[in-house]
Amino acid sequence: MKFQALLAALAATLLDEASAKAFRQRRAEDLASRIEGETTIALQGVLNNFGPDGSEAPGASAGVLIASPSTDNPNYYYTWTRDAALTLKMVVDEFLHGKGDLQPYIRDYVKAQAIVQTISNPSGALGSGRGLGEPKYYANLTRFNGDWGRPQRDGPALRATALITYSRYLLSTGIDSDGTEADNIWPIIQNDLNYVAQYWNQTGFDLWEEVDGSSFFTTAAQYRALIEGATLGQRLQQDVSAYESQAPNVFCFLQTFWNGNYAVANINVKQSGFSRSGIDANTVLTSIALFDPDAVCDDTLFQPCSSRALANLKQYIDAFRTIYTINQGVSESGAGVATGRYAEDVYFNGNPWYLTTLAVAEQLYDAIQQWSTVNTISIDDESLAFWQSVYPSAQPGSYTKGGSSNFTKLTDAVLTYADGFVETALKYTPENGALSEQYSRENGTSLSAHDLTWSYASFITMRAARLAATSDYSQVSSWGSPSKLEVPTVCTPSSVKGTYKPAVAAGAPSDAPSCTYLVAFNLNATTFYGENIYLFGSSSDLGDWRVSDALAGSAASYSDARPLWTFTVELPAGADLEYKFLRKEPSGEVLYEVENRSLEVPECGDESPGEQTVEDSWNGPVGNQME
Ligand SMILES: *[C@@H]1O[C@H](CO)[C@@H](O)[C@H](O)[C@H]1NC(C)=O
Ligand SMILES: *[C@@H]1O[C@H](CO)[C@@H](O)[C@H](O)[C@H]1NC(C)=O
Ligand SMILES: *[C@@H]1O[C@H](CO)[C@@H](O)[C@H](O)[C@H]1NC(C)=O
Ligand SMILES: *[C@@H]1O[C@H](CO)[C@@H](O)[C@H](O)[C@H]1NC(C)=O
Ligand SMILES: *[C@@H]1O[C@H](CO)[C@@H](O)[C@H](O)[C@H]1NC(C)=O
Ligand SMILES: *[C@@H]1O[C@H](CO)[C@@H](O)[C@H](O)[C@H]1NC(C)=O
Repeated sequence: MKFQALLAALAATLLDEASAKAFRQRRAEDLASRIEGETTIALQGVLNNFGPDGSEAPGASAGVLIASPSTDNPNYYYTWTRDAALTLKMVVDEFLHGKGDLQPYIRDYVKAQAIVQTISNPSGALGSGRGLGEPKYYANLTRFNGDWGRPQRDGPALRATALITYSRYLLSTGIDSDGTEADNIWPIIQNDLNYVAQYWNQTGFDLWEEVDGSSFFTTAAQYRALIEGATLGQRLQQDVSAYESQAPNVFCFLQTFWNGNYAVANINVKQSGFSRSGIDANTVLTSIALFDPDAVCDDTLFQPCSSRALANLKQYIDAFRTIYTINQGVSESGAGVATGRYAEDVYFNGNPWYLTTLAVAEQLYDAIQQWSTVNTISIDDESLAFWQSVYPSAQPGSYTKGGSSNFTKLTDAVLTYADGFVETALKYTPENGALSEQYSRENGTSLSAHDLTWSYASFITMRAARLAATSDYSQVSSWGSPSKLEVPTVCTPSSVKGTYKPAVAAGAPSDAPSCTYLVAFNLNATTFYGENIYLFGSSSDLGDWRVSDALAGSAASYSDARPLWTFTVELPAGADLEYKFLRKEPSGEVLYEVENRSLEVPECGDESPGEQTVEDSWNGPVGNQME
């Protein structure tokens, strides 16, 4: 990199402009061929992580994409709804562009998601929709009961977007001329969209699974899903009123993340003592997630070419220029560097990630495609600092394609800049092309989970964006983003309660319970600080009497006047259960209640979920504070 930069500088000063241009062109062509090589490896890397036959995914059910084959430090041998959906969207886009042999993977994924939606889990079940917010499952499609940052509300939206993209293809080609395949998929999409319409205005964990609040990325993914879901639903003659009524409110809320200089990744944060700048790859990924090749450079839609998204990108990149040792040799402000999730990151000591570094390039390639489509680059006060970091003599103004050489100079400069990020990622990619999650901030060696599905997917989407920026190839199709949307003057908190049904025709088990009760257990139990109460019992929702799978209670409403521990569990209607509470002492000792309690969940009523409250009082040994 250093050597190449030096050569580039030499070329610029010693040779005339024409040969400098030829030099840049050779460098770009060389990069293009390296990208093609890595793309082949990356696609194979994704397919290796795809159950049931992927070489790195033994035991994974059909259609399950594991996050990484790594089972230890970290253990990523699970399927995350978010990672799988983002990857599947890429697989659909590749399928639509000549990779016909990918269709069986898409169909397996559809089936697996129909099943996943019916798995009751610690976030809830399908009956209320709450279970759809569960972030991850075991690769054999069973629930994961461990502590986790849940719910995560981007998963249903991203899955809807992946399936909508595929459904649009089915309907437009006539391949599915009777519409059966699309009709079968719709109930999965509908559950996800109903979830978005009902829960978008509640907090959840962000895409990095750390922050409980409102995430820019999540809100954007939700907005997009509602818009394209409403269009698809209309085509399938479905009721889309909830999506249409909520979309403007989500759009309004999306604007509130902008602080005047950049989009703040997380707002409404619940954790006390949370202090980060808010500058985060979350926002760059948002710009990519909202990218619509037919859109103009719209700030409110945070399009890649918009002034806001460019200003935001500069803030994001600059946050990493000085903190990583491997960036230290890169002095020019217009050179690509390694970037990570956010500057304050300490996970695995806080390293650059492949997918975040590649996301910078992808946003810029998307922007180039957009400028070319709208024929104009507008530099304003908001984007000027970005432009001057890429092209030092840039001035505010409007530059038209073909109008002067300025347009070409500016887009060439952005292309070179974007390429610098890809070159950085490739420089720190091991010889065999394997992409892990992170690379060392000290020396660039691969770190954390190996063969990360999302890293591979991000390489392939970056490559498609670069092709679209440098040729007339266009991979990503429009999602029908509205043009010139007015932002409502007042943002309205809102929700539409949805109904949720197993997508049986798409592969959900026909006996999956769809009618549930939200049972609130209120337990009076005097405890001391460090002593915690759990609930367990005779069904999988209650941990099948396993202490390790017992549900943790909340002491949020605990007071001296009322020592209240609460649990909310979504249980199938008509269930006949036994349960009891237990205490975990700071020493690790477990104290059980004496007798089993019993509970009959009512039969299904008109409303799912029904609601039931159970009042209990601790009946058993009490922890000793003196121990
Ligand atoms: C599913 O996988 C988990 C984790 O490997 C394992 O503990 C569990 O027993 C498996 N369940 C079934 C039904 O195979
Ligand atoms: C709900 O929406 C209102 C109006 O946009 C907003 O002020 C509030 O922060 C939102 N809360 C959450 C948790 O989304
Ligand atoms: C655009 O071109 C004119 C001359 O053709 C030049 O004076 C100006 O600096 C250029 N602007 C940019 C942003 O390159
Ligand atoms: C590179 O840095 C990582 C820490 O980021 C360290 O664990 C590893 O040993 C280093 N490798 C080399 C070859 O220096
Ligand atoms: C409670 O149920 C568990 C699981 O069936 C059983 O092992 C235990 O003996 C029961 N306890 C009492 C006091 O009945
Ligand atoms: C729990 O405590 C409250 C307040 O002291 C009391 O009103 C209520 O009856 C208790 N519930 C049970 C089941 O003992």
